[in-house]
Parts: sequence; C-alpha cells; structure tokens
Amino acid sequence: MIGLGIESTAHTLGIGIVNEKGKVLANEKSNFTTEKGGIHPSKAAQHHVLMYQFVLDRALKTAKIKPKDIDIVAFAQGPGLGACLRVGAVAARSLASLLKVPLIGVNHCIAHIEIGKLTSGFKDPITLYVSGANTQILALASGRYRVFGETLDIGVGNFIDVIGRSMGMGFPAGPTIDKLAKKGKNYIELPYTIKGMDFAFSGIQTKINQLVQTGKHKTEDLCFSAQETVFAELTEATERAIAHINKNEILLTGGVAANSRLQEMLKIMSKERGVKFAVVPMALAGDNGAMIAWQGILEQKANYKMKDTAINQHWRTDDVDVTWL
Ligand code: ATP
Ligand code: FE2
Repeated sequence: MIGLGIESTAHTLGIGIVNEKGKVLANEKSNFTTEKGGIHPSKAAQHHVLMYQFVLDRALKTAKIKPKDIDIVAFAQGPGLGACLRVGAVAARSLASLLKVPLIGVNHCIAHIEIGKLTSGFKDPITLYVSGANTQILALASGRYRVFGETLDIGVGNFIDVIGRSMGMGFPAGPTIDKLAKKGKNYIELPYTIKGMDFAFSGIQTKINQLVQTGKHKTEDLCFSAQETVFAELTEATERAIAHINKNEILLTGGVAANSRLQEMLKIMSKERGVKFAVVPMALAGDNGAMIAWQGILEQKANYKMKDTAINQHWRTDDVDVTWL
C-alpha cells in the first residue's frame, strides 16, 4: 500500500508519500515564512494554493511513482487554521475522487505522535509534543492518547515566535533563538509558571517583551533565559509524568523538538531516570506530509471509515479513538 498525505494546518504545505512498511518515499514541503511579523491565515492559505501543484509534482518525482500507484489519500483534518485546512481538504477530496481511492482525514497532533513512534521504534512512550499551537504531555491509556499535562495558554512554539517578533525576528523564530541562546551567558530571572502537570507561557512572554523594551539586555541573554526557563518547565512536567505513569520511553515530537537545548535537557533527565529517550528526526519534526500519509496508512489498515470530510479547527488529541494499535 502506498499512501499520499497532505498537510496544510498552518504555515506549511507538505505532501508526503509513504509505503506500508513506513518507508518515507517523499516528504516535500513549502513553508510560508515572513521576514518580519507573524503569519496571516489567509496569506498562508494563498501560499498553499499557489504551491500545491509544484509540491505535488515534486513529491511524485522524488518517490518515483505515478498517480495511479497511490492507494490512499490522507489529509490533516484538524486542528489548525480554517483557511489553511480547507486548502488541504479540497485538494485531498479531489485527488482521492479522481484516483478512486479511499480518503482519510487524520488528526494532525496524533500524526506527530505516530511518526515519532515509527522512527524511534517506541511502542508505548510518554510523548512530549511541542509545536506552535500545541504543547502536551501524552500517553496512551484506555484507548486514547490522554493529556497528562498541557499548556494553559499558548503553545511553546507560539511563545518562541512572539518573543522573537518582539526582538525583530521573522516567522518562525525558533531556529534563530535556538542559535542565539547558545551565545547567551547571563541568566535573567523570569517567572517560572508550572502548575502541577500544566504550564503557562503568556506571563513569561509579557515579561520578556517588557525587558526587550528597556533595551538594557543583550538579545542572546534574553534568548538563553527564555529557553532555560520554559524548557525547564517542560522537562520538569515530563519527569513528573514518567514518575507517575508506568512507562519507560520518552518521545519528543513536533516542530519545537528540533531545539537542541530542549533535546539536551530531556536526554539528561531520561538518563537520570533510567528511561529511553528519542527525538523525531529533523525532517519529520515540523509539520510535514509524510506523517499524515503514515497516519492514513495506519488507519486504513485498521479499517478506517470516513464519517465526515469537514475540517475540524479545534479537534483535540484526546477526542480520537486509537483504533489502529
Ligand atoms: P501544531 O499544529 O502541531 O501546533 P505547528 O503548526 O505549530 O504545529 P510545527 O511545524 O509542528 O507547526 O511547529 C512549528 C514551531 O516550531 C514554530 O513555532 C517554530 O518557531 C518552532 N521551531 C522550529 N524549529 C525550532 C527550534 N530549533 N527551536 C525552537 N523552536 C523551533
Ligand atoms: Fe504541527
């Protein structure tokens, strides 16, 4: 079975092609970025429309397959930005109907988890899923990926992008902040906001924006302090989860999983706890079509029945019955 997956929940239009064994045959993408300022949903959606044919052609070429070789078409049905989700949904519907193959709408957050399980070989991890809009600690219990801890306000990637914007960076700011933080030497005290298993970032964000305004601090030190604070919160909550839930694998996935310092902190904690740790490979960390294709294959093999092709902007990870394991 060969699956084609379309990702368009936010800034990235991704088209991936994966086979039944989990081999990624193609993982092409085009990212909507800015030099300055955040992303506007309608502009990102327009980018996806304009780039669709180009990315699709490139994916088929890279995978060395013809459209007739595709057995299923999967798309990210939610959560995400309405305008962007709609582009992927329309493209997937027309492609599936043209090829007369099953259409599979998958949950984007679940796809981030399952691609991490595929690449790590982990069977039953505690997952720290960190991205722009989402920040959750998840583990499988009673047939669903249950949320054991999560952000009470914004996602950690969003936090990073917003503080980056206040320091004059474009979108996404994550990679730039990751690099600059390595040069930071002075830790600036910031609020540490962890509440049981949950965490919050907007107070820290406000504080950093105020510090930027004073013009008294080096950007490197602000990036360093921001990373040390929020990643310590995430590591602390993940450690608490592993202490309470009887699992022995920690998986880091999502766009922010690309961060070198977050990886380092979790690696140290996992070692101290005597549990296995894995991070999703860079090409599969941020939004991508391969993870959507793989999730489609998993669900198709589990006799997926499409109920509704409408997009779901607020579809939660723990609303999905895990039928494919
Ligand atoms: P979701 O819908 O899953 O919330 P998303 O639309 O935010 O996903 P992802 O590609 O999963 O998209 O994550 C993007 C985020 O990852 C952005 O906020 C970006 O700044 C952040 N990011 C990317 N690389 C790094 C890095 N090296 N360090 C920190 N953050 C990073
Ligand atoms: Fe994502």
